[in-house]
Amino acid sequence: MKHRFRSPGRINLIGEHTDYNGGLVLPAAIDKYTYITLEESRHFMAYTVNLKERVEFSLNEKKEKEDWANYVKGAIFHLAKNIKKQIRPFNIEISSTLPIGAGLSSSASLMVGIIYAISKIENINLDRERIAQIAHEAENEFVGVNCGIMDQYAVALAKKDSFILIDASSGRYEYIYAKGFPKIMIIDSGIKHKLSSGNYNTRRNECEEATKILGLQFKDLNKAFLESKKNLLGENLYKRAKHVVEENERVLKTIEAISRQNWEEVGRLVKASHASLRDLFEVSTVEMDFLVDNINKIDGVYGSRMIGGGFGGSVIALSKRDIRNDLKGISKIYQNEFGVEIKYYPVKLSSGVRKM
Ligand code: GLA
Repeated sequence: MKHRFRSPGRINLIGEHTDYNGGLVLPAAIDKYTYITLEESRHFMAYTVNLKERVEFSLNEKKEKEDWANYVKGAIFHLAKNIKKQIRPFNIEISSTLPIGAGLSSSASLMVGIIYAISKIENINLDRERIAQIAHEAENEFVGVNCGIMDQYAVALAKKDSFILIDASSGRYEYIYAKGFPKIMIIDSGIKHKLSSGNYNTRRNECEEATKILGLQFKDLNKAFLESKKNLLGENLYKRAKHVVEENERVLKTIEAISRQNWEEVGRLVKASHASLRDLFEVSTVEMDFLVDNINKIDGVYGSRMIGGGFGGSVIALSKRDIRNDLKGISKIYQNEFGVEIKYYPVKLSSGVRKM
């Protein structure tokens, strides 16, 4: 018997590079999905429709040479490890409308999807938080990416038409219903972002070093204290820390603005987040800056910024009206300038992983 599941990608409205610093994030699931079909089998077999590749594997700690297969294997391996039970083999087919490496959490979508699917079929009693935590552990330990908890929580817990405010220091979360929210467009810069490439871990280490020097965790830090320790930190670590402290404040202001349906203010905060990621946290790229600057000039746009880990990936734009025609023009100039093509698509806020 075949069992079919749907697991979403995610965007993050605001709160970037705050999760692994015990801060606040405001992600949501989008209506772009990884589809996973499972069928009982004699061996573990995974097939990706998008890449047309098939991998047979056994459940051990050994990495497969196909990158994508490690997300599947790692998820099942860590599920078995956590429930301390053997998992019988499945034939797993994966297809996706979610672009890979575009900063929309295709990896969390796949890993949470696999763990959720097997736990449903096998009647393993795990709540959605636990599923997110196992997927997070698998991505950290099996795939080797030291990511925060935002992506897995968003994919596992999201609700339609809502953002999720997550406090990464406690794992507590709250739904922020986004009534009348502006149109959301994702613009893929065409520059592949890969978290395992090292830049992300460098930023994590810098933040850790800053908290060591300051002797306080970010959640216990305020701006005045940070300013008083500026010299101790030195230019770079000060900039990283300033981003984190101010970004947490922006998340709270954004929630406030959403509750008042003040989209101009949401847009202003989104723009400020981008400027900070560009100038203080230094994770943007010239390509993403170009997109954000030009999109912000379009009539009816509230604000635009890079999302996710950075160093490539996607930009989001919030607008009053459909901006696809305007993006056509930007797309031509972008291609001349950078020799890469952008892709853009409107998205809606969707719900977390589920059986179909
Ligand atoms: C990636 C990570 C998340 C988060 C963002 C930056 O998407 O997977 O945990 O750290 O980068 O906000």
